[in-house]
Amino acid sequence: MNAAMNPTPVQPVPQPLLSARQLSVRFGGVLAVNNVSFDVQQGEVFTLIGPNGAGKTTVFNLISRIYTPTSGEIDYLGPQGLIRLTEQAPQDVAGLGIARTFQNIELFEHATVLHNLLIGRHTQRKTGLWQDLLFTRTAREAELKAREKAEEVIEFLDLQHHRDAMVAGLPYGVRKVVEVARALCTEPKLLLLDEPSSGLNVEETEDMAFWIQDIKNDLGITVLMVEHDMTLVSKVSDRVLAMNQGEVLAMGTPREVQSDPGVIEAYLGSVDDVSSLRRQTA
Ligand SMILES: Nc1ncnc2c1ncn2[C@@H]1O[C@H](COP(=O)(O)OP(=O)(O)O)[C@@H](O)[C@H]1O
Ligand SMILES: [Mg+2]
Repeated sequence: MNAAMNPTPVQPVPQPLLSARQLSVRFGGVLAVNNVSFDVQQGEVFTLIGPNGAGKTTVFNLISRIYTPTSGEIDYLGPQGLIRLTEQAPQDVAGLGIARTFQNIELFEHATVLHNLLIGRHTQRKTGLWQDLLFTRTAREAELKAREKAEEVIEFLDLQHHRDAMVAGLPYGVRKVVEVARALCTEPKLLLLDEPSSGLNVEETEDMAFWIQDIKNDLGITVLMVEHDMTLVSKVSDRVLAMNQGEVLAMGTPREVQSDPGVIEAYLGSVDDVSSLRRQTA
């Protein structure tokens, strides 16, 4: 088509929140991530799927700066504008508005829910040690703000009933929600969820889907998640990236990715995964 004869108004292209380009990570002889590129748009739920060992958690660890890529880079639209995330120090990532949960819950077991949320919030504190020790007005205000935020998140995720309970005594499903709560207390722009449904029963997984949708729609937080449960993936994801053996297999809407022949083939060998894929695409 001749563009000059049919002028179309130029739509402003929204800047992605995160842009990963040609990422590769080698661990000894294993190429855990092989030339992976993707953009995460502001306000979307973007999900990584793929069989065990595909490289999904490694991609997460690249974003949270636990690992440095062997090659490639990640750009991120931080509070002060676009930055090269792969050049930031790991301890600075939380301050840039990136929070995460872990595949295996990592909470302080012998502290209450509220205390876990306050500890989570501490990464966000802008006051220094001396200010904290002297309990200056700035430190006092930061403490108050942290408590307000924790109470707000407790209400948002319906954790009021467990607010003062020890984490160690809570059912697994509640602990998963507490981990999400702790991440939300840092007021992230980007929330990374590593297998939010793992260990949850069907009903708890449905609840988790609602929380993820609320986080996106009510808080406007962008979510990047790794997830196995295809029902949850289809329900909450705007776009899906399927990986296998470190490489990108397919990217698109949940429906497009699940009907991709390469994706179906990668899941062969695991009866559960195949049947859940069939259920979704039927
Ligand atoms: N720290 C590490 N050292 C060596 N190999 C690793 C390390 N982390 C991950 N791997 C390897 O990289 C590959 C991808 O792992 P991972 O990202 O955990 O997969 P997934 O989360 O998709 O199941 C696997 O072969 C795994 O054994
Ligand atoms: Mg993993």
